[in-house]
Amino acid sequence: MKGFGPETFGELNAEDYDLLHNPGTTEAAVDLLAVFALPGRTLELAIGTGRVALPLAARGCRIEGIEASPDMVAKLREKPGGADIPVTLGDMAVVKAEGEFDFIFLIFNTLFNLTSQAAQVACFRNAASMLALEASIHDPTTQRIDYQVLRITKNGFQLTPLPMRYAWPQETDLMAELAGLSLENRWGGWDKSAFTADSRTHISVYRKPTA
Ligand SMILES: C[S@@+](CC[C@H](N)C(=O)[O-])C[C@H]1O[C@@H](n2cnc3c(N)ncnc32)[C@H](O)[C@@H]1O
Repeated sequence: MKGFGPETFGELNAEDYDLLHNPGTTEAAVDLLAVFALPGRTLELAIGTGRVALPLAARGCRIEGIEASPDMVAKLREKPGGADIPVTLGDMAVVKAEGEFDFIFLIFNTLFNLTSQAAQVACFRNAASMLALEASIHDPTTQRIDYQVLRITKNGFQLTPLPMRYAWPQETDLMAELAGLSLENRWGGWDKSAFTADSRTHISVYRKPTA
């Protein structure tokens, strides 16, 4: 189609986008995206009017966007919290947001707004170039993990080390017991869900028994 550029979607749709483009899955999408987005810095490609970015920001996610359409960004800016979300204007296959991100996503068929395979591949490459790199060495005999986060900065490569010694919950229970504390609660998340083999987070509450 002639004359249809990256900004055209917004020129044609920004005014009534929120009214006409409700897939009915926003809340479920935000629930899942928040799991990946919460620990670090997140980038949404084609952020649009902030349909999912705003609820993610409201949950405490550090989210930014790339967006081709100034009209869509203007709609985002009109909404509560919309002015606080950094957005880089431009083609998501080409432009870079400042710095590195821990999680980058696009949603709602947006990859297909890029109308050639070459542009879609370029978009994946562009996203990959903005992802922070992590390398780790794991020594199970000492329960030690040595992380290195590799950042690509204006001044070249920068390594940020993070050494850790992990312990299973049974071992933290033992440490607590040695300190005279007893386990009161164990959850698999801040929603107090059960701690199971599939849990990605772990919360334990210990109490000092009354004398
Ligand atoms: C269906 S909307 C999705 C918006 C938002 N992610 C959402 O889920 O509501 C598609 C978005 O992609 C943007 N867009 C289209 N081509 C783009 C490109 N090449 N680079 C960046 N954004 C683009 C449009 O302006 C529009 O905001």
